[in-house]
Amino acid sequence: MKNYSTAPLPFVGQKRNFIKVFKQELVKKEAPKIYIDLFGGSGLLSRVAKDVHPTSKVIYNDYDNYRERLNSITKTNAILNDLRPLVAHIQQKTKIDISTKEKIIKRIAKETGFVDYITLSSSLLFSMKYVLSLEQLKKETLYNRIRKSPIPLAEDYLKGLEVVSLDYKMLFEQYKNYDSVVYLIDPPYLSTDCSTYASDNYWKLKDYLDVLKVLHNQNYFYFTSNKSSIIELCKWIGDNTGAVNPFDKAKIKTHFTTMNQTSSYTDMMLFKWNQTTT
Ligand SMILES: C[S@@+](CC[C@H](N)C(=O)[O-])C[C@H]1O[C@@H](n2cnc3c(N)ncnc32)[C@H](O)[C@@H]1O
Repeated sequence: MKNYSTAPLPFVGQKRNFIKVFKQELVKKEAPKIYIDLFGGSGLLSRVAKDVHPTSKVIYNDYDNYRERLNSITKTNAILNDLRPLVAHIQQKTKIDISTKEKIIKRIAKETGFVDYITLSSSLLFSMKYVLSLEQLKKETLYNRIRKSPIPLAEDYLKGLEVVSLDYKMLFEQYKNYDSVVYLIDPPYLSTDCSTYASDNYWKLKDYLDVLKVLHNQNYFYFTSNKSSIIELCKWIGDNTGAVNPFDKAKIKTHFTTMNQTSSYTDMMLFKWNQTTT
């Protein structure tokens, strides 16, 4: 079975930069009874948890229906296969001319049923730009970013995972009194673009703070970035108001990302895992 260190299909916010350190922390522990990936996204954290601890039950909350995209890889490959000759005369990563764009749109328009526009976006749009429909795609300038080889089918990617699709609060309610549970908690980042997610509402401060209720007295891996200032906020509240800081005594690992010459951010993984629960 393949060892996945990135998700098989593009997913904004997937934790590929943390997979190495996440694994390093998991292998130090005995397998818990259950991992619950509350904000599963691409399922990458679930996959890695199951690979490190195959005896644990791993619940992947596929809120975005990523499985539909995985199940459509053959269809996506067929589309990309037909697009390759259309862009053969265009250099990689350069703009696609209008007449070629029309041919591309005509080809995609032939499809019925579900089309994985997120994956098509990563082949046809500027880096990190995504659309969810043909109508949106028509409005964009296209670039030739089509990969040369087919996307691997990833048939084993969900193997052994228990897949659910629920609001995270409902999922937490179901398991909150179980012992030996480790929560994987990677909510949408505060005030960042969530347009490719199932719920495309920007996460506001209240939504973000609500998630902290899940951390109380639980074992967890929690992901955030320095942009949210949530760690600083919780520390201040803990130090000054007598309220509990849910990150008190949590360990932290960071990953620095440079976006361009003027912008960068630090992603963080905070974790707390009481050994005696295994
Ligand atoms: C930062 S992403 C998680 C990425 C994931 N850890 C990965 O590696 O691919 C946050 C996810 O939370 C999902 N989400 C948004 N609101 C949610 C809710 N109320 N309950 C559960 N998931 C939700 C988003 O759709 C998105 O898939």
